[in-house]
Amino acid sequence: MATHLITGAGSGIGAAVAARLHARGDDLVLLARDAARGKQLVDRYPGSRALVGDLADPDRLSWAFSKQAVPERIDSLLHIAGIVDLGPVGELRPKTWHQQLNVNLIAPAEVTRLLLPTLRASQATVVFVNSGAGLTAHAEWGAYGASKHGLKALADALRAEEKPNGIRVTSVYPGRTASPMQAKVHSQEGKEYDPERWIDPESVATTVLMAVDLPRDAEIADLSVRPGR
Ligand SMILES: NC(=O)c1ccc[n+]([C@@H]2O[C@H](COP(=O)([O-])OP(=O)(O)OC[C@H]3O[C@@H](n4cnc5c(N)ncnc54)[C@H](OP(=O)(O)O)[C@@H]3O)[C@@H](O)[C@H]2O)c1
Repeated sequence: MATHLITGAGSGIGAAVAARLHARGDDLVLLARDAARGKQLVDRYPGSRALVGDLADPDRLSWAFSKQAVPERIDSLLHIAGIVDLGPVGELRPKTWHQQLNVNLIAPAEVTRLLLPTLRASQATVVFVNSGAGLTAHAEWGAYGASKHGLKALADALRAEEKPNGIRVTSVYPGRTASPMQAKVHSQEGKEYDPERWIDPESVATTVLMAVDLPRDAEIADLSVRPGR
């Protein structure tokens, strides 16, 4: 049975991925920002385990992981958690930059670093859920786009470094996806939110699982997923 460590399993795309992997009987380790959220996730996915670590505070992840049992085998590490806060460069304060860079970029780098020996031993697949904003940053998407452009660089460097060690690295770049995050984006844009217009999180989950389940002779490096209507 494969073991998957998932961030962001509580909502949106991450919840769709976790539900699919749970339904097929795989072993889930779910990163949660605190113990209470961890308990909620374990209750939602019986048989799963929580790993507590606040991605907003990457400097403390090493300490947090050192106090818990980290899995001995990880077949896939799925970086799905993320946050967004829009605003023009002329108005974005350092706090807003730091928050998005911490959760969307530095924490995925630190979680990967801390788990790297296990990922190597397991010949793991690492998936980063990026964004269209990780390829092109439009007006008001500067801080989020910078965090996701950085996430692309992290994935590309990791892929090149760890190929000899048998680790596969995939970046998935979804367009607008119907989730609580997208509802917040619409609110910040002052637009009415109609989830029917956007990608179903289940469809993004399908692409993540495709990267994970691909036979070992191949690796999906980059995958853009656009709204189909
Ligand atoms: N929705 C879109 O249109 C869209 C488009 C392109 C890319 N993406 C990317 O797709 C990924 C998933 O987005 P989504 O739409 O599914 O978002 P979402 O519904 O808002 O879910 C975000 C998840 O990230 C977790 N998270 C946030 N801050 C955290 C922290 N400090 N520590 C631990 N976990 C934290 C949340 O945990 P809690 O459940 O505890 O709140 C939640 O489970 C993100 O990386 C996002 O940037 C989304």
